Amino acid sequence: MRSSYPAADDYRIMYARYYGGRSVKELCTHLGDLRDMKCLDLCAGEGLATEHFLAHGAHTVWSVDESELMIHSVAEKCPHARVVCATVESALMLALEEGQLFDRVVCRQGVNYWFTSKAIDLLSACMEVGSVFVFNTFNTKPSAQPRVRQYVLNNHHYAEIAYAVGDIVHTVLGAKDTSRTKVRYFGCRVSFCMQCCNRTTRW
Ligand SMILES: C[S@@+](CC[C@H](N)C(=O)[O-])C[C@H]1O[C@@H](n2cnc3c(N)ncnc32)[C@H](O)[C@@H]1O
Repeated sequence: MRSSYPAADDYRIMYARYYGGRSVKELCTHLGDLRDMKCLDLCAGEGLATEHFLAHGAHTVWSVDESELMIHSVAEKCPHARVVCATVESALMLALEEGQLFDRVVCRQGVNYWFTSKAIDLLSACMEVGSVFVFNTFNTKPSAQPRVRQYVLNNHHYAEIAYAVGDIVHTVLGAKDTSRTKVRYFGCRVSFCMQCCNRTTRW
């Protein structure tokens, strides 16, 4: 079992159920016009929002993810993006050092990993007046009793177990195709805003 993110190819299989859910386009709609904007994709993964920013005329795009395995393809796919392989906190400190401010910030399926008051202060300091930050996150908290789900998607058989201990959500996800089984464990803190989904914050 692993607690770090898998390589992008494995991630696409294991997270198929969420990958195809609320789309990047839908989330980014809440950001308004992107033309000539300075945009930041936090926890960018494979850079889906990064690609969206560039396709919609953004002036500057930073793509941030701590996992080399996830973000490595972004530099190739998006040569005009600034790819930063670092934690959100470190990347925001780098932006501040360089005097880089942003008008539009998105964090899709990742805000729970870094949403501390220190990181929020850093993000706030990196945002222009009138800028917009959009993120999505859990909209329900799993119960303390493990909930087991099984389903089939794209010919892969999935089993998912989720439960909460205090404000930490634990998830075990297994995906099996004909040749191999991938299993992943992660635990993450979700003490903030359990109700929000596609939440927009304006500075
Ligand atoms: C669920 S994936 C979402 C990826 C992408 N935003 C998407 O919508 O496909 C979460 C990503 O957050 C990254 N991540 C987790 N904690 C992080 C942190 N503290 N700083 C930067 N990236 C982080 C992981 O490496 C992973 O790529």
